[in-house]
Amino acid sequence: MISIKTQVGIIGAGPSGMVLANWLKKYGIDAVIIELRSREYVEGRVRAGLVEQNTKDILKELGLDARMKKEGIVHDGVYLSFDEERIHIPFGELTGGRTITIYGQQEITKDLTDAWLDGGETLHFETKATKIIDFDTKSPKIHFEKDGEEGILECDFVAACDGFHGIGRKTLPKKSFQSYDITYPFSWLGILANVAPSTDELIYAYHENGFALHSLRSETVSRLYVQVDNDESVDNWSDDRIWSELSKRLANLGWELKEGPIFEKSITPMRSHMIDSLRSGRLLLAGDAAHIVPPTGGKGMNLAIADVKHMVDAFVAYYKTNSETLLDTYTNDALRRIWRAQDFSNFMTKLFHKQDAHGSFTYRLQKAKFDYLKVSRAYKTTIAENYVGLPFESFKN
Ligand code: FAD
Ligand code: DHB
Repeated sequence: MISIKTQVGIIGAGPSGMVLANWLKKYGIDAVIIELRSREYVEGRVRAGLVEQNTKDILKELGLDARMKKEGIVHDGVYLSFDEERIHIPFGELTGGRTITIYGQQEITKDLTDAWLDGGETLHFETKATKIIDFDTKSPKIHFEKDGEEGILECDFVAACDGFHGIGRKTLPKKSFQSYDITYPFSWLGILANVAPSTDELIYAYHENGFALHSLRSETVSRLYVQVDNDESVDNWSDDRIWSELSKRLANLGWELKEGPIFEKSITPMRSHMIDSLRSGRLLLAGDAAHIVPPTGGKGMNLAIADVKHMVDAFVAYYKTNSETLLDTYTNDALRRIWRAQDFSNFMTKLFHKQDAHGSFTYRLQKAKFDYLKVSRAYKTTIAENYVGLPFESFKN
């Protein structure tokens, strides 16, 4: 039996777990991380790319933004298309200079993992957290399995940063929270292709065939998504079919989509999931362990890292001043921002996805919103400030 002790036991080496560990270290608080997958798997997992202003500020504060600053691509705006009409939302002008950066989630995770391991800290890959016990006492424990051997990580607090399928949320006492779910009747087929982006800013598009998104990863790699039915399989989507749909859905006068070899294809279902309590005793949840937003608007990873800010504030107050006030307000401090992001992600999803026949009442409401966006600076500002992420001060009340 392996036995380890630390102050904060972290389950999950995704963005939330790795930001938490590195941030706690800055304050002299010890942490040990347990991660189910191998390092290669975590660092190769293709997911998010949109990094909002708050996340950039946090990585800068941690001194871990050097590679993102060098290799990430800053965007000062976004294009929104509807039935081949296209408008531009200028972020900087509408939000006082706030922007987003496109930089792969797995690159952020890699930078954070490198910093953690280079500093001689502990991260157990290929180690499965199997049980969290005693979180209603001052000495909670994480049971785990590594290389066929069992172990116990004893700590002051457990931070469940273990994603949607982890054990953190399942461990919360059933009666301690209420959950809310929406399953959307469509999914995203996402691709990575070796081709220069056909656009200087991201494009979100409504088309009668369904939603499309043009994003990118670098000057030579494009990231694109198309709305597909929930029962679709990637096997039904040849490269030719994907490019043909993307060209139709992103079509715009005088603009052409460049095509190239596709080297990654996957389908992601779209859902919203919420729970209204992120803590039970000394077990605290952050990120996808606690909430899922549909990906339209790129909020999931940013929200996970925003939760961690509140968690760090709570742990620092506890260890430095013996105060439990911020532990007690953790759920509510985090939930205000989470609900705002749920609303924005739901709004963007419903504005740009095909939900009913072209010309239906739902379609006409979508079009009315877009037509209003074209003429209203106030409406554009609403999108811009949510897209780049509202500052933390906005949620203090
Ligand atoms: P995760 O990244 O899921 O990490 C959890 C970790 O816990 C995993 O490494 C897992 O292996 C580990 N784990 C699970 N169970 C156990 C266990 N029992 N023991 C030990 N370890 C365990 N977000 C954005 O902000 N911007 C975007 O542009 C964006 N685009 C997206 C596009 C797509 C197609 C998808 C699918 C998602 C997108 N997201 C985006 C969402 C974002 O990827 C997630 O919200 C983010 O990964 C959440 O981070 P996390 O650390 O909470 O959880
Ligand atoms: C990306 C993903 C998103 O969900 C989004 O809204 C914008 C960009 C991306 O992967 O680049």
